[in-house]
Amino acid sequence: MTKKTITILAIESSCDDTGAAVIRDGIVLSNLIANQTVHQNYGGVIPELASRQHLIQIIPVIDGAIKSAGITVEQLDAIAFTAGPGLLGSLMVGVGVAKSMAMCLNIPLIDVHHMHAHVLAHFIENPKPVFPFLCLTVSGGHTQIVKVNDYTEMEILGTTIDDAAGEAFDKTGKMLGLEYPAGPEIDRLAKQGKYVFRFTEPKVNDLDFSFSGLKTSVLYFLQKEMSDNPAFITENVNDLACSIQTTIVQILLKKLKKASEMTNIKEIGISGGVSANSFLRSSLLKMGVEEGWKTYIPKFEYCTDNAAMIGISGYFKYLKNDFADQSAVAKARLEF
Ligand code: KG4
Ligand code: ZN
Repeated sequence: MTKKTITILAIESSCDDTGAAVIRDGIVLSNLIANQTVHQNYGGVIPELASRQHLIQIIPVIDGAIKSAGITVEQLDAIAFTAGPGLLGSLMVGVGVAKSMAMCLNIPLIDVHHMHAHVLAHFIENPKPVFPFLCLTVSGGHTQIVKVNDYTEMEILGTTIDDAAGEAFDKTGKMLGLEYPAGPEIDRLAKQGKYVFRFTEPKVNDLDFSFSGLKTSVLYFLQKEMSDNPAFITENVNDLACSIQTTIVQILLKKLKKASEMTNIKEIGISGGVSANSFLRSSLLKMGVEEGWKTYIPKFEYCTDNAAMIGISGYFKYLKNDFADQSAVAKARLEF
C-alpha cells in the first residue's frame, strides 16, 4: 500500500501581509504573499485598512497558491491558519476563510500560533537545527529568546518589556523621516554609513530586552543636533542608520550570547522580520564562529511574515492529530 501524502493549505493574515501556501509532506509547493502598500503614508499599520485589504486579497492569493502548487482543492487534507497573536480584524479574515473552506471540503482545521510558526520556519529547508535549540525571534511585534525542545514544545527565556526590535527600527527610522516599515531602509542606508553615534544601552535583568530607552535617546540626540544644524539628519542619515542598527544588533546578540551560556546550548537560530537584517545576519555568523555555535538563518522569504511557516507548523500538528474545530476564534493576544 502506498503511503498517503499530506497536503495542507496554509493561510497567514496576522498583520499587513496576506499569505497563502501549499505544503505537501513538509515540502513547500507554493508560497504567495500580497503586501499591503496602503499603510505607507501613515507611518504604521492601520488595523481597519489592513483587514479591509485582507478581504480584497485573500481569495485571489489562496487561488494563486493552489494553482501554482499544481493541485486542486479536492487534494487538500487540512487547512492551517494563523489563530493569533496579531491584529484582531486581520486574523478574523483568515480564520473565517479557513473555517469556510474546511467546512465545504469536509477536512480538518489546524490553528497555528504565529510566533511558534516564526520559530518553525527553520524546518522548511535544510540545514535544520537539532533540539534543543535557541531561537531569537525578532519581529515588528515581538522580541523573544525561545528554548525550542520540540516542534510543539517551546518556552520563552526572555522577552521585551516594552518595544519590539522591529518597532525600534521602525520608530527611530520614522524620526529620520523614513517610510514605514523603516527596518529595510535603515539596513540599506547603514551599508554606506559608519558607527559614529553612541546611544544609551538598556540595563535590563536576565534575558529580557528593552528598546524604549534607545528610542528616547535617539529622539533627544536628534532634537539637540537639529537645533544647531537643521540639515543634521539629511547630512548624516547613513551614519545615523548605521549607529542605530549597530546598537540594536548589539543589544540582541549580547542577550543571545548570555542565553547560550546559561543553557549551554550551541544550536542557535534567528527568525522573524528583523532577522532579514543583513548586519544581524553577518554578526550572528561572526559570533557563531567565535562562540563555537551552529547557526541557522531561514531564507529571506521565510523570515518575514509568510504562509509557508504556518503550513510547516500545521504539518507538525497534523502528524500529532492536533486539530481545531469550527469553534476556533482569532485571538489578538494568544498565550505562547
Ligand atoms: O515578522 P514580520 O514580517 O511581521 C511581524 O510579525 O511583525 O516583521 C516586520 C518587522 C518590521 O518592524 C520591519 O521593519 C522589520 O521586520 N524588518 C527589518 C528588515 N526587514 C524587515 N528590520 C531591519 N532590517 C531589515 N532588513
Ligand atoms: Zn511575524
